[in-house]
Amino acid sequence: MHATHAPSSNDCSTYLATAIQAAEAAGTVLRDYAKSGFRIDYKAAINLVTDADRQAEEQIVRTILSAYPSHRILAEERGQDGSTDSPYRWIIDPLDGTTNFAHGFPFYSVSIGLEYNGESILGVVLDPVRGELFTSIAGQGAYLNGARLHVSSIDSLERALLVTGFAYNIRETPNNNLDHFSRLSLRAQAIRRTGSAALDLCYVASGRFDGYWEVKLSPWDMAAGIVLVREAGGIVSGFSRAHFSLYGQELAATNGRIHDQLLDAIHQRGSNH
Ligand code: IPD
Ligand code: CA
Ligand code: CA
Repeated sequence: MHATHAPSSNDCSTYLATAIQAAEAAGTVLRDYAKSGFRIDYKAAINLVTDADRQAEEQIVRTILSAYPSHRILAEERGQDGSTDSPYRWIIDPLDGTTNFAHGFPFYSVSIGLEYNGESILGVVLDPVRGELFTSIAGQGAYLNGARLHVSSIDSLERALLVTGFAYNIRETPNNNLDHFSRLSLRAQAIRRTGSAALDLCYVASGRFDGYWEVKLSPWDMAAGIVLVREAGGIVSGFSRAHFSLYGQELAATNGRIHDQLLDAIHQRGSNH
């Protein structure tokens, strides 16, 4: 039976424990496939999916639904699951960074977020290669392997290390982020493209990156990481500071201090570039 009242701190701790258990089970699946090999299928020209994505997702969904059978699920490979009217929805990316994984480039993650009535209340991101577990409950801080996280204190775009990414339809759409990327390359200290949006967000929360932006993201890329950024003292928005939606595709996530500078640069305000 699911709680119909707003989740208490105890409820959230229980959900967090389940999310961690699910992420670790999926991490084991990914590590095993990385060693043993896997089949690669193509969803589109440059959009891959592997056995590891599917099996990791199975593990996560099984773990969550056996603990909370009435909860709803939105997972990348299977889509929506559960037709109940539960206020809870788990948003899952079983393998964020599939292209990296398929090439043996060791930078990918498992991402599990939880919404209550459309509000993001919890996020867990696991980097199974480095054994880094990022966890957060809304209102209770963000943590890496149990140590409290804080965003960086860099306060100018010129000194900022930024990160971004590109969607799989980069060849088909003019809204492919290349314009923002070239403009910001001339404004920031440097820009990285790691290939795992969930880890990019956790790295903003950890102060390893000062800011992140991307277009055409899916809810499962962001659902967990945005909780980490907010709880580490950062800001999450769309390309307008006042608006953010997990379903809105545009994301700007920073340490807060460079947020307006990043949005201004995206909108080509206040610069000759
Ligand atoms: C992708 C990664 C990448 C981002 C893409 C995502 P996937 O997710 O997060 O960093 O740039 O937009 O689609 O397909 O590896 O789960
Ligand atoms: Ca993803
Ligand atoms: Ca994925």
